[in-house]
Amino acid sequence: MSKGLADILKDYLPKDKTFDILHLQNSPVEVRPIVTVEAQDNTDNDLSDVTIKILHFFSLAYNKKFVFGMEIHVYIILKKAENISNIDYSTADRLLFVSKADTNGYCDVKFSAKQITKGLIRYLFSINPSHYLKKVIPLERKYPKSNLHKLITKETKLDDALHILAERCNESSTTKEMRYQSTLSEPYYNSYKTPSDITSKLCLFTRPADQYLFAESSKNPKKHTLSGAGLLKWWLSIIDELLCELFMEDSIGKLRIPGEEPLTIRRYLKTTKFKNWMVGDIFGGTANSLAIFSIPLFSDDPKSRFLHELVEENRVLTTNLSTFWMELQERQEFKLSETVSVIGISGHTIIPNFLNVTNKDTMITLSKKEYKYIKNYITGEEYNSEEGALESYENVTNYLAYKFNTELLSVIGGMTPRVKTQRVVETQPVVSILQPRKKAKT
Ligand SMILES: CC(C)(COP(=O)(O)OP(=O)(O)OC[C@H]1O[C@@H](n2cnc3c(N)ncnc32)[C@H](O)[C@@H]1OP(=O)(O)O)[C@@H](O)C(=O)NCCC(=O)NCCS
Repeated sequence: MSKGLADILKDYLPKDKTFDILHLQNSPVEVRPIVTVEAQDNTDNDLSDVTIKILHFFSLAYNKKFVFGMEIHVYIILKKAENISNIDYSTADRLLFVSKADTNGYCDVKFSAKQITKGLIRYLFSINPSHYLKKVIPLERKYPKSNLHKLITKETKLDDALHILAERCNESSTTKEMRYQSTLSEPYYNSYKTPSDITSKLCLFTRPADQYLFAESSKNPKKHTLSGAGLLKWWLSIIDELLCELFMEDSIGKLRIPGEEPLTIRRYLKTTKFKNWMVGDIFGGTANSLAIFSIPLFSDDPKSRFLHELVEENRVLTTNLSTFWMELQERQEFKLSETVSVIGISGHTIIPNFLNVTNKDTMITLSKKEYKYIKNYITGEEYNSEEGALESYENVTNYLAYKFNTELLSVIGGMTPRVKTQRVVETQPVVSILQPRKKAKT
């Protein structure tokens, strides 16, 4: 039997401690390419790559309090070989973009945010990619003309809407499930065959902040935050371990620190164990390439904000990659902050058995709205006191029980604490002629 989320995470949580985990995922949805495609004459749109985006949100709870959160966007990019005319995609990229990670300091036991982060990324790389490809919401839905009059839109008059609703209720023989399938299956969803050759990638922007997901949590004096350089080293060590444990030897790791000399960047890479770490990024292009055709556009990402700004300033078709990185560090949002960096890895994983996602592990929401709604129970709370962590837990568990008759996934940790080897300092008696020996009292 393949492993599930709990089996993977237990190795990253403290021994014998019971945690709960919320794992939300939205339905896979086709999106426009994340890297702007250079317009070419005679481009046949049907032959272009397909990009599918999936949102994952994890929140870890202990003692009925949410204490850690992380959001990762997964992109599956199906690529068609140039000379292949059939409809199958020959290769694909699975790209994980770490959007946010945060703690709030209200955990009653010591757990390692580093370990849980590593465990969650390992889990995402272990998911069978076919999980994302079976039922994909297309960019545009092609509703058959015969059914169009049965749809209720903003333009539908009240009388007509009631009529349509009554008609739907009268479809007496169809069970709820059948109706769901008959209305929502083909042609409303796309499905794709899983390509055999999948390159796994991970990319993130390290930028410290007081808080990302748990508003006001910086007011908790027990919350531990890292400096810019500390955060960079923290992520580097997580990703380096993942490269060593999950990736083939010819995979690559890249680090870029906008505004820093390669020599300085290499200093950060000195401690890594994986051999293929280099200065740079995984986005491709040369110093003279236009940034817009190399840099991916992720949501809520400083690089993307800068690209949008270049569009507004009418400079996007003249800014090359070298200028892009140089100007990025000059931006206001970086001026006040400390070291920021872009880390990326790319290669083939050595995971022997991909795992199949189950309802127990993952709550797959039907719409992005529902995903945001549940996530908002956590991110919409204020964490200046412990109340926030308790209340968000209470609200999420109540909602899951009431709406879906389900509960959070429980995980009992199995990781024995790392014993820090302490240097034994031998205390030698200090012998000095300047110390007068006291006469023993009799
Ligand atoms: C990034 C973040 C989630 C990491 O959490 P963390 O608790 O610092 O991470 P870890 O549990 O892995 O601990 C890292 C180190 O700090 C130490 N540490 C943790 N809590 C501590 C505390 N209260 N006091 C002193 N040291 C502490 C750990 O022992 C560990 O040390 P080690 O590396 O020698 O083992 C946290 O700093 C945070 O929430 N930052 C704010 C949001 C942010 O900047 N996110 C980054 C997104 S890119």
